[in-house]
Amino acid sequence: MHSFFILLGEYMKVGILMGSKSDFDVVKPAVKVLKTFGVEVEVRVISAHRTPNEAHEYAETAKERGVEVIICAAGKAAHLGGVIAAFTTLPVIGLPVKTDMMGGLDSLLSIVQMPAGIPVATVGVNAGENAGLLALQMLSIKYAEIARQLAEYKVAMRAKINADDEALQELV
Ligand code: RP5
Repeated sequence: MHSFFILLGEYMKVGILMGSKSDFDVVKPAVKVLKTFGVEVEVRVISAHRTPNEAHEYAETAKERGVEVIICAAGKAAHLGGVIAAFTTLPVIGLPVKTDMMGGLDSLLSIVQMPAGIPVATVGVNAGENAGLLALQMLSIKYAEIARQLAEYKVAMRAKINADDEALQELV
């Protein structure tokens, strides 16, 4: 946690769940970007079908532990996000994991196509960084310091693309 946030008395936590330890490489960029912004992460392997009781318990107790957004990474019949969202009012972001059979389309559709009533905000296949950034954007509604850092992040991104554009002109 950045000392700046401790000074402000602000304490932000994002829960990151994955259905299997094999999903961890996809989750890592989310962990990285959240930590860079000074947000604490609670990272767990919890499966909707292999450990359904733990999934239920996690979702029901997340809010009281200070978790404000939950990211759920899963592959194949990827119902982790939907199950977690069923037991909490916290926003849930689904992170579909690429698979051998359909390149992750199976995971993507399992997460994004939630029936009415239980939405799961879904990022692209293996898009761990975007999952982390979307969680930050949700937190930025409440935390001005996160909003400030996100604005800086966008300025840096624009500067990089502008520099790439300029460098390209030398090559054509
Ligand atoms: C899902 O099944 C996990 O999220 C993972 O993406 C997929 C395969 O799991 P393992 O067989 O590698 O444990 O539950």
